[in-house]
Amino acid sequence: MKKIFDTEIKSNVEVAENIFRLEILSQELSKIARAGQFVQVKVSDEFTLRRPLGIASTKNGVIKIFYRTVGRGTKSLANKKAGEHLDILGALGNGFNLEIDGRILLVGGGMGLAPLLSVAEKIPAVDVLIGGKNADEVNFWIEEFKPEVGKIFITTDDGSRGSKGFATALLPEVLEYENFSAIFTCGPEIMMRGVAKIAKENNLSCYVSFEGRMACGLGACLSCSIDTKNGRKKVCKDGPVFDAQEVFDFE
Ligand SMILES: Cc1cc2nc3c(=O)[nH]c(=O)nc-3n(C[C@H](O)[C@H](O)[C@H](O)COP(=O)(O)OP(=O)(O)OC[C@H]3O[C@@H](n4cnc5c(N)ncnc54)[C@H](O)[C@@H]3O)c2cc1C
Ligand code: FES
Repeated sequence: MKKIFDTEIKSNVEVAENIFRLEILSQELSKIARAGQFVQVKVSDEFTLRRPLGIASTKNGVIKIFYRTVGRGTKSLANKKAGEHLDILGALGNGFNLEIDGRILLVGGGMGLAPLLSVAEKIPAVDVLIGGKNADEVNFWIEEFKPEVGKIFITTDDGSRGSKGFATALLPEVLEYENFSAIFTCGPEIMMRGVAKIAKENNLSCYVSFEGRMACGLGACLSCSIDTKNGRKKVCKDGPVFDAQEVFDFE
């Protein structure tokens, strides 16, 4: 089910340089949202187009969203204060399949960790590999994931926390630690492609969450279309979660 919600902002705080955690109050949206879905936020009356942001948590009627301020829309959102109202369209997209048996490994890079947090919150048998630029960009994720997962593996590009290097460099080692049944990944496309390749080499199912360039978010405008092995697909409606085999080719 999707509709427009008039929500109240509980808090909107900077948790790392240019990264904000937004908490909004909505019992109804928190009940209907599935792990891996996203919302379209009307950041201000100045902009006609809404901005797509992943749902990171839905606990106790509070929706948590993490966003990086990259352009005019997200910078405008960063000025919003607790008590102000926010117009949200959701919950959108397909989300992750949580019916898979066995242990799931989440592999996230940067803001791609947001939809993976919502998975960790909903299933018990889960570990996470967190990748980021530096300690500042992973510290808050570690605190968010701590209560929700078994083990946390960390990599940073500059080695300021965890192993130095990309998440894909540590992944083969992580896969030796446990018999995982699937990998869920979200982050830069190059990282997801690398993760999907390693998953394939290890005969593991892999599901990737894509960020298409969006306008309507409802499957009507085609601006988020991507080519897949099963034809053109809309990231906002058919995704954002796809089976990696459908979107990546390693032949
Ligand atoms: C399904 C989905 C989930 C996302 N989840 C998150 C999240 O949890 N946290 C987060 O920080 N970012 C997330 N993004 C990216 C986020 O939507 C963009 O960073 C944001 O729209 C940029 O808006 P802006 O006005 O600040 O930037 P501008 O560059 O000024 O935006 C201009 C236009 O481009 C569109 N746009 C720009 N970048 C993107 C992008 N990467 N994806 C889609 N549209 C874009 C905007 O919607 C806007 O219409 C997600 C994107 C998608 C598609
Ligand atoms: S954003 Fe319009 S069809 Fe996907």
